[in-house]
Amino acid sequence: MALLEVRELVLHYASERGPVKAVDSVSFEVRGEGEALGIIGETGSGKSSLVRALMRIPPGNIDTYSGEVILKGKEIIHIPEEEFRREIRWKQIAVVFQGAMNGFNPVIRMGDQILERMVEERAIIPEKRREVAVELLKKVGLSEDTFFRYPHELSGGMKQRAAIAMALSLNPSLLILDEPTSALDVSIQAQIMNVLKQLKWDMGLSMLFITHDIALASDLCDRIVVMYSGQLREYGSAEQVLLDPQDPYTRELLSSIPRLHGKASPHFVTGAPPDPAEPPQGCRFHPRCPEKYEICTRKDPPLFATDDGHYARCWLKGKPPEKG
Ligand SMILES: Nc1ncnc2c1ncn2[C@@H]1O[C@H](COP(=O)(O)OP(=O)(O)OP(=O)(O)O)[C@@H](O)[C@H]1O
Ligand code: SF4
Ligand SMILES: [Mg+2]
Repeated sequence: MALLEVRELVLHYASERGPVKAVDSVSFEVRGEGEALGIIGETGSGKSSLVRALMRIPPGNIDTYSGEVILKGKEIIHIPEEEFRREIRWKQIAVVFQGAMNGFNPVIRMGDQILERMVEERAIIPEKRREVAVELLKKVGLSEDTFFRYPHELSGGMKQRAAIAMALSLNPSLLILDEPTSALDVSIQAQIMNVLKQLKWDMGLSMLFITHDIALASDLCDRIVVMYSGQLREYGSAEQVLLDPQDPYTRELLSSIPRLHGKASPHFVTGAPPDPAEPPQGCRFHPRCPEKYEICTRKDPPLFATDDGHYARCWLKGKPPEKG
């Protein structure tokens, strides 16, 4: 049984211009202990909206919120909010939000902030506080004295480690990380990636690792989802998606990465991502696709299986309908 199964998840926001299709019928699974699933996509492709949908914290302007999310065999999107809060949020699924390291309260010591959820849940007795916090700090490579420090006394990398420690405080089965390294410089990014690898390999923690950086995803993830304009475009093992991409968008993304060897020079995907309130008719990537043909402007392709566990949303991979 998969740890997490996401089936046709939809989160559309209401706007004056009509529904913003931020997450548009997305399905995937996180298979089991220690699997890291990477979600990659350009800005605005719906990555953070997917997190909001999974954590059941959509904003006020919902147009449509539907689908199924099954955690360890139990559907969790349609259960009462109180049950989700009591049993799932932070306890089974925890998240390090995009920009979390800037969200600490400046006047509260780090130790108290890291333990905040444990205290709220009465999951810790006062005499154990220090011991438990130090254990959490150690897991993310922070020293004991971090417990007494204030946020302004820590570097960006240290604050991001602390945000990860805070998310781990109730011992979740799945950790979601939304762009956990994007505001950090490269050497600090590498340190955070090492922390995540340790959590995955030593503790068997499963992760949903969200990033626009394919190189980082390839460093950590077993399988990869490529998102574009709220839809899942390609899905498969990291080897399948990165070494044998079947979708033109994935190929364009990959060719934008500079290479040390070989003659090919990098090029960026031309054009801008579509407006999710008015996505193009047909294949949403067609205005930017170098391989488009007639049907692409008329019909949105479904996901086609191209190999065992490998799927791509492209008419080049399946038979278009005879009519229409
Ligand atoms: N509350 C909202 N109301 C209307 N539109 C929204 C709302 N929140 C996000 N959007 C729009 O939904 C789309 C997806 O946004 P989202 O933040 O999920 O993208 P993202 O992939 O996380 O981008 P980034 O890489 O920049 O973090 C964007 O077009 C965004 O402008
Ligand atoms: S369906 Fe057509 S436009 Fe879309 S990615 Fe495939 S070839 Fe390109
Ligand atoms: Mg985001």
